[in-house]
Order: sequence, then C-alpha cells, then structure tokens
Amino acid sequence: MQFGYFDDKNREYVITRPDTPLPWINYLGCQAYFGLISNTAGGYSFYRDARLRRLTRYRYNNVPFDLGGRYIYLRDDESGDYWSPSWAPTYYDLEDYECRHGMGYSIIGGRYSGIEARTRYFVPMDENLEVWQCSITNRRADHVELSVFSSVEFCLWDAQDDATNFQRNFSIGEVEVDGSVIYHKTEYRERRNHFAWFACSAPISGFDTQRDAFVGPYRGWDRPIAVERGEASNSIAHGWAPVGSHHVKLMLEPGETRQIIFLLGYQENEVEQKFDPPGSQTINKAGARVVIAKYLDAGNVEKAFQALRSHWCDLLGVCQVDTPDEHTNRMVNIWNPCQCMATFNVSRSASFYESGIGRGLGFRDSSQDLLGFVHMVPSRARERILDLAATQLPTGGAYHQYQPLTKRGNNDIGSNFNDDPLWLIIGTAAYLKETGDWSILDEPVPYDNQPGTEQPLYEHLQRSIRYTMERLGPHGLPLIGRADWNDCLNLNCFSDTPGQSFQTTTNKEGKVAESVFIAALFVLAGRELAEIAARRGLAQESGRYLAEVARMEQTVSQHGWDGKWFVRAYDDSGRKVGSAECDEGKIFIEPQGFAVLAGIGLEDGTAATALDSVRELLATPHGSVLQQPAYSRYYLHLGEISSYPPGYKENAGIFCHNNPWVMIAEARAGRGDRALDYYLRINPSAREGISEIHRCEPYVYPQMIAGRDAPTHGEAKNSWLTGTAAWNYYAITQWILGIRPGYDGLEIAPVIPEDWSGFLAMRTFRGAKYHITVRRAGPGNRVALVVDGKAVDGNIVPLAGGAETTVEATIG
Ligand code: GLC
Ligand code: GLC
Repeated sequence: MQFGYFDDKNREYVITRPDTPLPWINYLGCQAYFGLISNTAGGYSFYRDARLRRLTRYRYNNVPFDLGGRYIYLRDDESGDYWSPSWAPTYYDLEDYECRHGMGYSIIGGRYSGIEARTRYFVPMDENLEVWQCSITNRRADHVELSVFSSVEFCLWDAQDDATNFQRNFSIGEVEVDGSVIYHKTEYRERRNHFAWFACSAPISGFDTQRDAFVGPYRGWDRPIAVERGEASNSIAHGWAPVGSHHVKLMLEPGETRQIIFLLGYQENEVEQKFDPPGSQTINKAGARVVIAKYLDAGNVEKAFQALRSHWCDLLGVCQVDTPDEHTNRMVNIWNPCQCMATFNVSRSASFYESGIGRGLGFRDSSQDLLGFVHMVPSRARERILDLAATQLPTGGAYHQYQPLTKRGNNDIGSNFNDDPLWLIIGTAAYLKETGDWSILDEPVPYDNQPGTEQPLYEHLQRSIRYTMERLGPHGLPLIGRADWNDCLNLNCFSDTPGQSFQTTTNKEGKVAESVFIAALFVLAGRELAEIAARRGLAQESGRYLAEVARMEQTVSQHGWDGKWFVRAYDDSGRKVGSAECDEGKIFIEPQGFAVLAGIGLEDGTAATALDSVRELLATPHGSVLQQPAYSRYYLHLGEISSYPPGYKENAGIFCHNNPWVMIAEARAGRGDRALDYYLRINPSAREGISEIHRCEPYVYPQMIAGRDAPTHGEAKNSWLTGTAAWNYYAITQWILGIRPGYDGLEIAPVIPEDWSGFLAMRTFRGAKYHITVRRAGPGNRVALVVDGKAVDGNIVPLAGGAETTVEATIG
C-alpha cells in the first residue's frame, strides 16, 4: 500500500493522504539555519545546534506523535468555520491534500469548502530564515471573507532547559511587536545577543504572542480561541509561553488567488549594538529589518527558491546514473544523496527520533558520513575532517561526540570507544581520493581543542592507527573499550542498576575483551594509511603499517575464524561472542561484512564461506539481521545489545547500516547478483509498495527494520539520521556500479547483476566530467576500457586533461 508517489522529474515525493503511518518528514536548510518539517507541517527550527539554539518548541512524546509546528489556520468569517490546510492540527477532511517533499523544501496544502491553500516552506541559501509562502485561492462561486492566522511557539533557546526548567522559564519570556513583526527576545537583556523574528507580508489586523491568549485555557492547537473567535487579542507575553501569531483579513473574489509570505528568522547583533537606542532595553532591529524587507518581496522569494533549486541541481549533478532499475536510479540520483546531506548537516542530532537535545555530532558517525557527501561538498568535508580531528585526544583516542555550536567534546559520554579513531583515516582517505587535496594532511589541528597542541592532521592519523596497535588483547586482537561500531555490545560495562548508562559504566579493566570488528577496520584503515604514507614518500612507515596489517589478518584467521564465519569478539572472560559455541548470538553480521570488505579471506575462500553463512542465517526478505539467534534475556557481560527484545535494534534487528557492508563484500567477491539483491531488499523506494508494513518514509533509509524475531518484522524505525545513508550510497555507486575515485584517476569496476546489459553514468571528478557507458559483453566482471576513443590498459581512467571525457567500459 502506498501513501503517495515519486515525482522523479521534480525530484519530489508526493504524499497524497495526510495520515501516513508515521510523520513523513523533510529537512529545510543546508548551511546554518535548519528546520524539520513533517507532511502535516509539524516540526521545529534551529540555528546551527538543535539543542543550544532552538527557535521553535517541539514537544516530544506528544499525542498525537507529530504536534506543534508551522501551522496556518483559515477561517470563513461568515460561517465561523475554520481549518488548517496542512490537515494538522485541526484534522478536518481536506480535498486534494498534497505534500510535496522536495530538495530542501516542502509544499503542503489542500482544499476545504472551496478554499484552496498551499504553502511552500524553504530556507533561502545564505540566510538564517525560513519562508512560508502561502497561496490562497477562492474556488467558490461567491466572494469570501477569510481570516488567516499564523502560529509558531517559541523555544527559550536551550531546548533541554526549555523542556525542564519551568520554575525559571515561566518568568523569563519576552517579546516585542513592531508593525507586523513579532520579535522573540527571551534572555536578550542579559547574556544573549540573538533573537528570533516572525514577519508577515500582509497588513495585520491583530497578533498574539502569549500562548494562553491565542490558544485559550483548556484548549489545544486544534481549536485556538483566537481562531474560533476570529480575532486576535494583541497579547504581549510576559513570562509563560511566548508564541507568534499574525491575524490577516482577506476578501477574495471567485477565482482570485492571494499570496501571503510569512518569515521566521534568527538574528545576531554585535554585543555593543544590541540595543536601540543604546542604553535602552529595546532590540536593535536594523539588521533584521533589511532581511525582512528583502524576503517580504515575492520576486525576491521566487529568486531565492530558484537559487535553492540550482544549488541542489549542482549537488546532485556530480553523479547521475541510468541503470535498468528505477529504484536504483531514483535513490542514487535524488534521495540517497539528499539524505547524505542531511546526515552531513545534523549528523544524528535532530530528527523525529533524535530529540536534538542528546547527541551532538558523533566522531565515528560523521567520519563515516563523509563517504556519502564528500563528492558534493568537498570544501565543507575538509572543514568537517579538521573539526573532528580537533576533538581527538593526545592518546589518539577521541571524544565520542561533540556539540556543533561549541565544537567541544562531550564530557558526559567521553571517550574509549576503541573503533572511533580509525574512522578518521577512512574519512580522510575518501577525501583525498575525491579531491587530490594533499594539503589537508599538513593542516595544524589541536588535540582536545587545546590551543598550543596543534599538530599536522597527518600526525592525528598516525596516532589513530597507533591507538589500536597499542591496545591489543590476549589474542593479539584490538581491545574493544566501551564499544566498537556496535554501541550496544558492551563487553567492559557490566551494568546492573536501572538508569546506569550501558556504555559509560566501565567497571572492567578492559584488558581482555577484544573485537574482531576493530581488527577488520584496522586492516582497512591500515592499508589506507600505508597508501597515504607511501604517496607522501614515507616508504618505511608505509611498510610498517602493511606489516601490521598482515599480522592482524593472520590473527584474524587464527583467532577470529569460527569455521563457517568470523567470530564477533572475545568477552571479558575470554569467551567467544558470535561463535557456534555460543547459545545465542552465534553469528553476527558486522565481522562478515567488514572483514571481507577489508579484503580478508578473499584468497583462502573464507570470505565466500562467511558470506554464504550470512545468506543462510541472517538474510530475510526485509534485509539482513544483525545477529542470530537473538538474545532471549539480558546478559550482564554483553550489555545493551541484550536489553532489547528480540528483533529490535542491535538485538537481531535489521540494522541497515551494516547491510551495505555485505553488499560491498559480495561485490568484492565478484557476486553482483547478490550484491544488488541485498541492495534492493532495504532500498526505501523498492519498499514503497509495502508502506503499511515499512511505515517510515519510502524516500530515505531508516536506521532499523524490525528483524524476523520481532512480531512487527519489516517495520522500519528511526528514519533519516543513520550511517545507512552514506554506506548505501557508497556501496551502490562505488562497488556495485563500481565508479570509484582513486588517487590516480577514476576506477571503473562494476559488479552488476548478470542480466543487466549495462548502464550509463555521469560523474564529475577533479573538475572533469566523465560520460561513462558500461556494456555487458558476457558474464563476469573483467573490464576493458576505451577512453575518448582510445583503449586504455587496466581499469583506471587517468585524470583527464579536458573538461569532458567519454569512457566506454565493456565488462564480461
Ligand atoms: C547508532 C550510532 C552508531 C553506531 C550504531 C550501532 O547508529 O549512531 O554510532 O555505530 O548505532 O550501534
Ligand atoms: C543506543 C542505541 C544505539 C546508539 C547509541 C548511541 O545505545 O541503541 O543504536 O548507537 O545509543 O549512543
């Protein structure tokens, strides 16, 4: 069952009924100002940091799930009837309801009693504001007198404090109203030099800024008293809950359309120029007024929208493909890179499942996310790499998370996730291959953001690799620390008290539990760093890394091979985790995918055996589960993984992030049919037809799909912010379609299904445009290349001299 359809030409998903199984959302903004918007106009906005600079309030755990947002109300002033053209929060039946989620914008609206209204929401490039462009058309035979009410609820900036510190917060709210602009200035009097503003293009006949005055006591957003009455009360908030609402009166002739522009913005003033006149307590509005005037002009708004569209055209234009499969095309060309940009922008901080008050940017998460966006925004990727490295500790370890606003490591969660530092090498290698910008390695970067500790980025990478080498356990495998990629496999954190954190309750010495996964990651990262070292002329150092890698591979085959698959780990007592010896959790997906992806076992046949075990024991029609059999009870020595009921999250859920590792592994093993088969099992577009089961958005990946042990097998959760986005993009573009940026050129190594006759691709790489045609001449994956009409040895297209290069690849 579907709740909409893909409009690929416009790069939109069109939702045609508002009651989607879960809120289906989109992201607005791509630089500093961001918003989340659901298909019924729910959601919230923030500046840079969802926790520390929240503009609008959002109530978690609300009923219904998605309530509170960017609501507009229409009222028929003759009958007194009122409704909301985004369906929520009044929930009146709309005709022609439609929500178009596009690249950085959403258009939501519908018709009620002959009045059609649609609002286009977006954030103009380079501005800290959002536009709500609302068009209202009278489709009745008679003229109509309407009232239009806007509404937002302001957050008192720090979203965590806003949701908890009521004894203070109920007394600090302050606003100013100037003409039709509402200014929210809580805490401006003292330490803040920023405020929010809410403007309207039409003359207003009233406003409200106190929530109780607008909504009314004992009422909700579904029937605000001001709307019911048809009159705002010009309330000024002193404390309690500041809101913004404009009241506009409209008379529309039959067939007439009017447009009202609402703007919600964020403004910072120089500290010395906070007040106007100086010495007063009145906000200096000069800066805000300029921006407001510009965007209350419909012509400028249209220009800004076109600029946003061409921004996305440029981003997506870097890589476009035309394959025999529409789900592949749609995800590769549109939605997967769109999701990668969302993970670049907000990492795991703000979605409908990540509250924006918990995690900031994750070290391992953001390092991996680089794989999915580095080709679109290389200079911003550079900045991200340097920011991440600056949260590294002198030991080579890393803060697990940091706040994007302050860029400081998060002390609550701390460090000692032993895989973290290695991901920096993976991300940096991807950047180097994409851009050829070797200068990044010489950039001075501090440790723990301490001035004076700066060392070249390259030194950070050296410390990353040494961090693992200096922390090996009894079998010579890397010690796991608090956790490796699997945050919930907590082998040193025996947590037996309610409310304790599974990962940070480290009460074991940590000298025994080892991770085969980190061993595989070390093999991959070690090879990458060896290559980088060699290219920097450090042959000896490079050789040392390769020797360590070879030794680790040996150790993995000796202590990490279980007979039919790779072992997952050794626990604190030296017992195997993820082995046939175990009662539950006999086989884990991570080491199978990652070891093979890193090249382990390709020669001795263990890779193929491990992948066959995945197919036999872990694969389901909805994707491959993380482990089997699921843990049926809590194991103190395994931690959070066994806290989840069977089939959910890391306890045998389909944790989509690691599925592409198996796709890449299958591609490395030369099995294109299987690689694409796995790709399509979790491809959101390919699951659109079962939206009533999948329930999350059919245009972006979720973090998890319930595994076969769960009663809700196939149901997705936690959409949008997941490493799944980057890894799937990387798997399909670089390993299945096989278009791979390399140090010496663009490598062409497709491993596609046998029944594909080929595909076309267009890739911009190092300033040149490659027009690639892949043609299958027979079974197999051997590649013969013709570049600009000339046969080339090997499968690397040398760096092009010209701006356009034609590549013909024959495989068979
Ligand atoms: C979440 C975390 C990520 C971790 C994964 C598996 O997605 O953000 O860091 O690797 O869970 O536990
Ligand atoms: C929880 C989640 C896991 C996530 C981690 C992040 O353990 O289950 O998916 O990676 O939190 O801290």
